[in-house]
Amino acid sequence: MKGIILSGGTATRLFPLTATTSKQLLPVYNRQMIFYPLNTLIKAGIKDILIIVAPEHSGQYLNLLGSIFKKYSINIYFEVQKLPRGLAEAFILGEAFIDKDPVTMILGDNIFEKDFAEEIKNFKSGGLIFAKKVPDPERFGVVKFDENNKAIQIVEKPKDWISDYAIPGLYVYDNRVIGAAKQVRPSDRGEIEITELHNFYLQSGELMVSTFDGEWLDAGTFDTLLEAGNIVRDKKIYENFDPIINQAIEEFNAELKALAKKRLS
Ligand code: G1P
Repeated sequence: MKGIILSGGTATRLFPLTATTSKQLLPVYNRQMIFYPLNTLIKAGIKDILIIVAPEHSGQYLNLLGSIFKKYSINIYFEVQKLPRGLAEAFILGEAFIDKDPVTMILGDNIFEKDFAEEIKNFKSGGLIFAKKVPDPERFGVVKFDENNKAIQIVEKPKDWISDYAIPGLYVYDNRVIGAAKQVRPSDRGEIEITELHNFYLQSGELMVSTFDGEWLDAGTFDTLLEAGNIVRDKKIYENFDPIINQAIEEFNAELKALAKKRLS
């Protein structure tokens, strides 16, 4: 299983914070936001992770993540996305990296309380996505279930209500996703929509949609960014980090401190 974190984009709603760095490098309590999706992938045992970033932030990502997981045999790769063209583009940009494997893609700003490791490890083929009841489904990709809890319809940001179940930014697909992504035509908002990929698997009866409990945060505005930090602290979500991440960060901090000391002497 390969892992992709989509971490490009401009996040204009967070200007001026995102004039100097990437949204996914902003702090959520005591960690940069990107460590949360990294944690989701690392906990699932994924060893090869591609991070897709905007060109203006590539150096910052490299400085933070370029080598901290090396000794834990977790390989981090980077790909630059010049202009964001939609979530499905991640599978086209990542084609050579994904190679013949299945892939889990997570959005760099999606923070989950739940650990998805078992579901991801047990994935065999087709597609696996998740769903959670929200008060504002019109902001998301939405899935409708029938009376047997079988997914029957998926719509990107439905104007007319179809269901309260939103689809978060965590997607597991088999290797056919690369070919499917290449077939997607841009939507009215000019993006190649991930929803089309869900529908590709839904139509052939190969899509699993699993509902989940616990917090799902995306930190897209000042208020939700602040709220995300508070929830992570109050619910101690930061205690869910894989020991590899905690150790890697400790070593990184120690290295920075040693360098700072040298500069002062
Ligand atoms: C994207 C997806 C949508 C999904 C959401 C999760 O929306 O298109 O299907 O529910 O992420 O955060 P966007 O953030 O591009 O509006």
